Amino acid sequence: MAIREIVRLGHPALRTPAREIPSPIAEAAELQTLIDDMLETMTAANGVGLAAPQLGVDLQLFVYVLPAAADEAPSTPPTVVVNPMLEPEPGELVYDWEGCLSIPDLRGLVPRHPAVRLHGLDRRGDSMNYVARGFEARIIQHEFDHLNGVVFLDRMHDLQSLTYGEEWERYLADAADVVTDRI
Ligand code: NI
Repeated sequence: MAIREIVRLGHPALRTPAREIPSPIAEAAELQTLIDDMLETMTAANGVGLAAPQLGVDLQLFVYVLPAAADEAPSTPPTVVVNPMLEPEPGELVYDWEGCLSIPDLRGLVPRHPAVRLHGLDRRGDSMNYVARGFEARIIQHEFDHLNGVVFLDRMHDLQSLTYGEEWERYLADAADVVTDRI
C-alpha cells in the first residue's frame, strides 16, 4: 500500500468523466492495489471520502467513511464503491457547507438531495443497492460528481458563500453544524 498524491483543481483528471471498470473486479490485482492506496491516502489526509480522479486515475471508483460525529474518528469500516449509479430520493434540496481535498481550504454552501439510492459494486464485484441519507448522502453525491468531472463549486447556486477555512472558523462556524470538507 502507498499514500498517493491528491491532485488539485487544474489537473485534467478532475474535469474528465471516469471510465467504467470492467469485471472481474476481485481478481484485478492492480485495481485492488489502487483501492488499498485510496483507503490509505484518504486516512492519511484525515479525509472522509476520496474518488479515483483525485489520484489522477480516470476510473469509476470512490471510497468513503462515516465519522460518528463531525471531527471524530470513523465508527464503521470504509465503503468502497465501483461503477456507481445514483437515483435521488424525493425531498427538497438541502444546503450545507462543503469543501474538497482537491480544492484545499475553500468552503461553500452546496445544495444536495437529502437522500439518494446508490447502485454499484463492492471491491469483490458484488452488487450494492441502498439508500443513504444526510451526511452520507452528501459525501456520496460529492464523490459521484468527481467521477463525472464535476466539483462542488459547479454545484453552488452562487459564489456568495465561498470562504477560506480560517475566515469560516472566525465568522461562520457558530452558525453551522458541520462542514464536509475532507472529501
Ligand atoms: Ni472532493
